[in-house]
Amino acid sequence: EPKGLILAIESSCDETAAAVVRGGCEALSNVVASQMKLHANYGGVVPELASREHLRNIVPVVRAAMEQAGVSLDDVDAIAVTEGPGLAGALLVGITYAKALSFGLGKPLIGVNHLEGHIHAVLMEARQRAESPMELPLLALVVSGGHTHLYLAEQRGEGGWRYRNVGRTVDDAAGEAYDKVAKLLGLGYPGGPWIDVLARRGNPQAVPFRFGQIKPRAHREGISLSNKKAPAKGSGDVASFNFSFSGIKTAVLRYIETHEMRGSAEARRGVLAEHPEWKPGSEETAALCDAETLDLIASFQHAVVGNLLRQTFAAAERFGARGVVVSGGVAANSELRRRFQAEAHRRGLPVAFPSLALSTDNAAMIAAAAWPKFVAGEFASEALGATPQLRL
Ligand code: KG4
Ligand code: ZN
Repeated sequence: EPKGLILAIESSCDETAAAVVRGGCEALSNVVASQMKLHANYGGVVPELASREHLRNIVPVVRAAMEQAGVSLDDVDAIAVTEGPGLAGALLVGITYAKALSFGLGKPLIGVNHLEGHIHAVLMEARQRAESPMELPLLALVVSGGHTHLYLAEQRGEGGWRYRNVGRTVDDAAGEAYDKVAKLLGLGYPGGPWIDVLARRGNPQAVPFRFGQIKPRAHREGISLSNKKAPAKGSGDVASFNFSFSGIKTAVLRYIETHEMRGSAEARRGVLAEHPEWKPGSEETAALCDAETLDLIASFQHAVVGNLLRQTFAAAERFGARGVVVSGGVAANSELRRRFQAEAHRRGLPVAFPSLALSTDNAAMIAAAAWPKFVAGEFASEALGATPQLRL
């Protein structure tokens, strides 16, 4: 008799994760082994090293998730796993292990899109808090080191959801811009948390970064493959609300050069390398930044968050969304949360963010996204493979 237990595995990037979730929302365990420290030495995720670490961690992480949940593998009703998007070699470790478990135990296998997982992280927690469920259609901003996507989540028939991609970055992801700008300024990796706390000490109006307006335009690519019957608006195409973050990164670089701030950034990099124990929010770290640097950091963040805010709410209005959900690593940003909350309040729209624990990669969100598929009996075949460029 089914107990509604899903064991989920996530290994798409630099976190090996496993979780046991009941009924799509009650996490009995959620174990994450982060490789952050390993990759920090290289200033980014090294795919080859990531795969090796996943291979080392996968068995102990799944074992820990089972032990913490206090259930046995026999109790599990299905195995869910991230099939993409992500690093091919990293995905393969989780998928291979999940397939072996599924085969060995005779339990169904469910393939999950990582981005759908990020969206469900938020909804799962809203359900846990027993809040009234957010009503569809929802506008979801997935914003991380690898993604800056806007999806419209709509009801599909009785059970499942369908997603329309209504915006994406045409170059860098927002988190990537944070990481690159932090690197230019000699700050630590990943850059987001450093910039987040230092920005509070600067003047966000000091440097007037302007985003060129990427106008909502109609193009076929904006329609996700899962939605061949895009709603007809005029031509039958769907407006897309795109992002671009490589321009602001270049503008910051130019600013650093024209204001001769390169030397101080190098010096900062050197001091921080000697003090790996200094956290982003510490006084020592702040003391390494002069007023001009803090203003630059605050202005950069203000511009990025403003751009995310404008595009997201413009899309929400355009598609008549009844709520906004923000997820992915950058959803942890304090200015982003504050300004999205204020704007949503102003418009009378509910907005939801994941808790900090569920905003970065984890497997509980994969189990949550797998739940509607489990209920609908949408199982993966034994030929399930890794799809690094998987679209939602
Ligand atoms: O979702 P995530 O953990 O991994 C993927 O990229 O899939 O996101 C990591 C990204 C990094 O670029 C990091 O700099 C950014 O999220 N990030 C932040 C903050 N915390 C993490 N960006 C802005 N503010 C933060 N507080
Ligand atoms: Zn992610």
